[in-house]
Amino acid sequence: MKQVAILISARGSNMEALCRASRAPDAAYHVCRVISNRPEAEGLNWANTNGFESLAVDHKQFPNKASFEEKLHAELIACGAEYVCLAGFMRLLSAEFVQSWRGRLLNIHPSLLPSFAGLTPQQRALDAGVRLSGCTVHFVSEIMDAGPIIAQTVVPVLKDDTEDTISGRILRAEHQTYWPALSAVCKGQVSWDNGERATVSEQLDTSLHGCLDL
Ligand code: GRF
Repeated sequence: MKQVAILISARGSNMEALCRASRAPDAAYHVCRVISNRPEAEGLNWANTNGFESLAVDHKQFPNKASFEEKLHAELIACGAEYVCLAGFMRLLSAEFVQSWRGRLLNIHPSLLPSFAGLTPQQRALDAGVRLSGCTVHFVSEIMDAGPIIAQTVVPVLKDDTEDTISGRILRAEHQTYWPALSAVCKGQVSWDNGERATVSEQLDTSLHGCLDL
């Protein structure tokens, strides 16, 4: 069973979905710690009250990014984390941090990457008039939202969608996408050896990608 730490900044609904899945009898991972860079993050309360070890590492208490990341790294090592999941973690991590967790650091983004990387992807998808959107789980690389893709789920964009309705639909897809992707990585079925693409074992290739059943 692999040890996984989850980094959040606010609501933490993806963290919650990852934590719930970790309680399945056949789970491939154990959540060893939830860490937020914002002490007031709602997700920390959920983790606390549901028996998951949690901790705030407030970036504002550190003089610079390097010292914040040093503490973060030390806390990840202290809890025995082998993999780290970013789940609505709103701090950009340095190239040094990312390199030290290469292939073991995952993120989820609410668009079908490489489309709509960065902030407000749902609104930009609406503005662009795309008919399909979704979410992507990927390994984190030095370039934001650009690391090798592990899993994607597609959702339709409906005629009357607002940013709220499309975001909600994508979020439901996120909750169904992150834990299977993480599980596959923990089982050694997905890896990032070199280059720009992840290697996914053949049987898994289709099961990690799908459409949200509405
Ligand atoms: C999600 O849409 C995730 O894809 C993005 O930030 C949002 C976090 O939501 N990176 P939550 O905190 O997991 O509810």
